[in-house]
Amino acid sequence: MGESRMDRRDFIRKAIGAFIGLQFFVLFFTYFRNDKKEDEESKWLELGKVDDFEKCKTYSFPNNKVFLHRTTEGAFLAISNKCTHLGCAVSLDSKTGGFICPCHSSHFDKLGNVTQSPAKRALDYHPIKITANKVMVDMRHSEKRDKFNNSQLTSA
Ligand code: FES
Repeated sequence: MGESRMDRRDFIRKAIGAFIGLQFFVLFFTYFRNDKKEDEESKWLELGKVDDFEKCKTYSFPNNKVFLHRTTEGAFLAISNKCTHLGCAVSLDSKTGGFICPCHSSHFDKLGNVTQSPAKRALDYHPIKITANKVMVDMRHSEKRDKFNNSQLTSA
């Protein structure tokens, strides 16, 4: 009889332990699932509506470290401000519409191609998506490239 009571207590203790463990597992799983979903959404930075950007013009977003170029055909290219020589921040060259690096004077054209070394390859570019007529840029990822080609553009 005493042994039976012990078995019951032991069973109840184990059942409570298993229940608490399951609750922790559910909380843990839910937390990481939501965190991943927020991460996926937060990487996209909204730069503005499609019609806010004139064709054949480049826009600067200094705090976000990106330039947005709209081609004469209306497609978009998000260009990183990080120089491909040693990583200094390039700035917009109002004379040429391209970019100049203040550190060692690399020059780039409006599509990010090198026009003057020491940089050897074009400025990186960020993926773009157009959602509800808004231009969204993926600030977590940038793509390396030797030079510009049309596959890097996103059409409106
Ligand atoms: Fe830009 Fe050297 S870091 S030219």
